[in-house]
Amino acid sequence: MRFIDIINKKVENQKLLKEEIEFFVNNYVNGSIPDYQTSAFLMAIRINGLSDEETAILTNAMMLSGDVLDWNFLNKTIVDKHSTGGVGDKVSIALCPILASLGLTIAKMSGRGLGHTGGTLDKLESIDGYNIMLSDEEFKNVVQKHGIAIVGQNTKLVPADKKIYALRDVTGTVQSIPLIASSIMSKKLATGSNCILLDVKCGDGAFMKNIEEAKKLGKLMIQIGKKLNRKIAVEITNMEQPLGKAIGNKIEVLEAAQTLKGNGPKDFTEIIYSSAKTLLILSDCAKDEAEAKQMIDKAIISGKAYEKFIEWISAQGGNAKLIEDKNWFKPKYKFEIFAKQNGYLKIKSAISFGLVAMKLGAGRSKKEDSIDYDAGIYLNKSSNDYVNEGELLFTLYSSKPINNELEDELIKAIEFNDKKYNIKSVFEKMY
Ligand code: URA
Repeated sequence: MRFIDIINKKVENQKLLKEEIEFFVNNYVNGSIPDYQTSAFLMAIRINGLSDEETAILTNAMMLSGDVLDWNFLNKTIVDKHSTGGVGDKVSIALCPILASLGLTIAKMSGRGLGHTGGTLDKLESIDGYNIMLSDEEFKNVVQKHGIAIVGQNTKLVPADKKIYALRDVTGTVQSIPLIASSIMSKKLATGSNCILLDVKCGDGAFMKNIEEAKKLGKLMIQIGKKLNRKIAVEITNMEQPLGKAIGNKIEVLEAAQTLKGNGPKDFTEIIYSSAKTLLILSDCAKDEAEAKQMIDKAIISGKAYEKFIEWISAQGGNAKLIEDKNWFKPKYKFEIFAKQNGYLKIKSAISFGLVAMKLGAGRSKKEDSIDYDAGIYLNKSSNDYVNEGELLFTLYSSKPINNELEDELIKAIEFNDKKYNIKSVFEKMY
């Protein structure tokens, strides 16, 4: 088999055979196929797409390129949740301990943030001592003992995705629905989970800019999961504005902790409830939404969800007590932005907030950049709040002096209106 013939087949929009897709994955991972040929192949896929069948074959081959975790020794359903990434997205940090406190078993691998999107791993690493690099053995032990662990991607898992994703990032081939679907699903499947919720973020702060694209990606991931015998649900959620009021690392951990105590912002709490209900039903722990809601209410009101959060952070070496100390989040610099007119606030662009948070130091523009865990933004006012001229809108935080030009970037991303507008946290659920 010659790879040039496989590239040409995709350029001519012909369907690839299982052996051809497997040939590509195996030989790219072992170094026999060079980056320049793979770039051409990925571009042909970006332009001509892959059928659902081809995407499932690619996902399976990518999953099998490295280790696949085996949880059979626990004899339990392993639950996972994945977000396609956004601004202020701290869902996993609040959702996973709620579910674990209700008896579900969560074994999750998360990623770092890049560009305007934050990453769960960076947020967790803002907690002193939290160890994201557990060995397989340690990962299994924490999950067995505490019912929850969130770790970084182990290099032995899905090496194909690591290599292909790095190339996609610099060849204009990230924006391909079959490539995104196979990248996400190969990692979820290799983690060994059998019950998966995919949170597809939709809006200007997300990969999927409109609902049609988000649905296409959601449907495709459901089909791949079903072909490979997993239970899958998709929620398409709002990323037209930041999620919750906090954007950054420590500041988001604090917001997640408050939400576990029942004091979270409305939009964030809605997503947490929606995702928790979906996973409780999907894993057969609740018979319907009403029962699931009661279970979640009880976990939060009884304090069990918050206790589980502290237990989990401590189990992975984090100093959970520090989170409760008011000196833990004490940024050196602060810059306040005030309203210059009256009206109902509308945040028009999540990505602008993500980019400003990144410039403050909360995110990376390049993989090698380091993170300022104190940097971030707090939305003193959210969309649909009525604001009077002179009222505090947003507070920017950083460990470095703050450039006041960042104010203009946020002012361009908002407007003030006479009326409220319709905002939905969850656009659609799909099974
Ligand atoms: N997240 C992933 O893991 N892979 C993609 O291709 C896009 C988002």
